[in-house]
Amino acid sequence: MSEQDAIEPLRELFYAHYRFQYLSAGYRLGLFSVLAEQPGLTHPEIAARLGLQPQPARILLLGCTSAGLLRKDDDRYWNSPVAEPLAASPTEVPAAFVPWEQHVNYRPMAWFYESLKEGTNVGLRKEIPGDATTLYGRLALNPELETTFHNMMGSVSRRVAEDLVDRLDLSGYSHLLDVGGGTAVNATYLARRWPNLRVTIIDLPTVASAANEKIAAAGLAEQVTAVGLDVFRDEFPRGCDAVLFGHFLEIWSIERNRELIAKAARAVDPGAGAFVVTPGADDDGTGPDLAAALSAYFLTVASGEGMTYTGAEYEEWLLDAGFEPTGRLTVGNLGDIVITGVRK
Ligand SMILES: C[S@@+](CC[C@H](N)C(=O)[O-])C[C@H]1O[C@@H](n2cnc3c(N)ncnc32)[C@H](O)[C@@H]1O
Repeated sequence: MSEQDAIEPLRELFYAHYRFQYLSAGYRLGLFSVLAEQPGLTHPEIAARLGLQPQPARILLLGCTSAGLLRKDDDRYWNSPVAEPLAASPTEVPAAFVPWEQHVNYRPMAWFYESLKEGTNVGLRKEIPGDATTLYGRLALNPELETTFHNMMGSVSRRVAEDLVDRLDLSGYSHLLDVGGGTAVNATYLARRWPNLRVTIIDLPTVASAANEKIAAAGLAEQVTAVGLDVFRDEFPRGCDAVLFGHFLEIWSIERNRELIAKAARAVDPGAGAFVVTPGADDDGTGPDLAAALSAYFLTVASGEGMTYTGAEYEEWLLDAGFEPTGRLTVGNLGDIVITGVRK
């Protein structure tokens, strides 16, 4: 194989980080919004609108065009279909991912090698201020990053929740415990869909108070309450007849997941439902891409211990803790699955 032939298939990988920086800088400068408002601007017009000197603007346009984000015709530029959604709401998929990848993940992920070697989240420790051992603990001290996180998480959860309300039958349950329920996205959708269902969210104290504000603003304070606690230090509140782990168990190690599912089993009576919503990993360990990316993120940044586990592993942990696994569904269009079970 010639040197050229050997380089070619690797080129995409070598250049991926430059491409992301073109995308991120274009997004932060408002390039895609400017071209959505005024398609067909020239290089000097774009430089003036973005407040850039001519040569940096030329570099940005070169990279965004070569990455397929812009189309150039004569001396004018248009958003490509790939970039068009980036001009939409900054709190929705896919725009909410850009500040998330840029401000939370990009620098920490340069410590992936060290994180693999040490088996912990070196990236978080090196790049995100604070003493807490998890990203979530450090976000509490970094309100801008916390907002960036919850914008991204909310954008994903809304996509999932829109589908979850149609796919999950909660008519037989009266009180759902939403473990690590974040800023109440799932809870809000589920409470509206099932008006007789009460929901108790448990999450870290700063997140629980943000959730309670959102719940009150949504007029759901009678039905949904968020309680601030640490799921590893505290027992789960009793009295619920269904437990939801939404985008939560993939953060933690196998041992801690077994412990959390056992806590859920202790908190509920026979017949209670269990629902694990999580990005899906193929049972044979070959993908998909999302599972690989998130696994690197959980190790290097989020917790230093989690990964995207397979549906079969969740079923085994549920079974061992006293829940009978009852099925698997796919939800949303971003690669999530739900594993369901019933307390024996
Ligand atoms: C990935 S988010 C998922 C949020 C929500 N369930 C959803 O699907 O949108 C994980 C949540 O776990 C919470 N969390 C992390 N560590 C926790 C702990 N020790 N106790 C309680 N909640 C925790 C975080 O604050 C965050 O809201």
